[in-house]
Amino acid sequence: KTVYVFNGPNLNLLGTREPAVYGSATLSDVQRLCEAACARHGLTLDFRQTNHEGVLVDWLHEAGRAQAAGTALGAVLNAGAYTHTSIALHDAIKGTGLTLIELHISNVHAREAFRHHSFIAPAARAVMAGFGVAGYALAIDGLVQLALPSGD
Ligand code: DQA
Repeated sequence: KTVYVFNGPNLNLLGTREPAVYGSATLSDVQRLCEAACARHGLTLDFRQTNHEGVLVDWLHEAGRAQAAGTALGAVLNAGAYTHTSIALHDAIKGTGLTLIELHISNVHAREAFRHHSFIAPAARAVMAGFGVAGYALAIDGLVQLALPSGD
């Protein structure tokens, strides 16, 4: 099955963007880390980044259809700043029933007040924040855990 990892605005700048907050790993490094996590579970990775909100909406619909068809396990979404602004992303997740993990590299709750509210969280199955880029692999492990029959 496929695991989708979607990255929103400014995450293409990882590595040079505020390294004190986000670390020095690039988005390609993150992709490699996700490939390794998926390979450990025998899963296929579909890894993407866009700076455009509507593109994220389309990708969430696509992932929702794939999950409904039984070919995807779910998605990990780092929506970047759209986390704090986008009702459209909230509605896309709700509307598709996609199993989604909200992810942030930084601990958004320890930062500015405007990062404390998330429109994604109420539509997400789980939230991962503050583990640096290692959180991506942990989120993929978490998706696998959530897909296990209950009691396992
Ligand atoms: C982020 C946190 C957001 O507040 C910010 O706008 C980002 C990155 C993170 O990964 O920590 O772009 O989602």
